Amino acid sequence: MIHILLTHVGGAHYEDTVRLRQRVLRDPLGLVLDTSGDGARTFLVAVEDGVVVGTVALEENRLRAMAVEGETRGIGRLLVARLEQEALARGITRIELHARITARGFYAKLGYTEHGEEFTEVTVPHIAMAKDLG
Ligand SMILES: CC(C)(COP(=O)(O)OP(=O)(O)OC[C@H]1O[C@@H](n2cnc3c(N)ncnc32)[C@H](O)[C@@H]1OP(=O)(O)O)[C@@H](O)C(=O)NCCC(=O)NCCS
Repeated sequence: MIHILLTHVGGAHYEDTVRLRQRVLRDPLGLVLDTSGDGARTFLVAVEDGVVVGTVALEENRLRAMAVEGETRGIGRLLVARLEQEALARGITRIELHARITARGFYAKLGYTEHGEEFTEVTVPHIAMAKDLG
């Protein structure tokens, strides 16, 4: 059974999101996670049998720090849906994000469209994507 919780710096499972983001988003690039912006973010956390298996953050109208452990099994989709619900509850009607090129197809499946040119972030190619909610 998977539960989605909301947390923040210092809250339940926050440190687990740091470890998960380091392992999924930074270790493959040989980089160390920068958590200095975390204070401005609300983290959504997917917990399965007490273990954090996925996370994503909402920062104003931006989707950030999307990371899921292991195989494709619907956790990313679940997290983004919950993030959009949270955004709408805050009166946010458009979500923006920087997608790694390797994840663009994931966001496209969830209704996000690409705009602008590719650019480099954390050493890898990205593309800006956005979705109007509602
Ligand atoms: C990208 C990521 C968040 C997707 O999470 P996930 O839990 O595997 O995604 P889901 O299982 O909810 O997939 C939803 C749909 O997107 C598809 N999908 C998942 N990852 C994809 C990818 N990288 N490219 C294209 N399609 C993808 C799935 O096949 C599924 O399609 P379906 O509904 O037709 O079956 C996850 O693989 C991940 O953390 N990757 C490494 C880190 C990363 O790239 N983060 C994003 C940085 S911008």
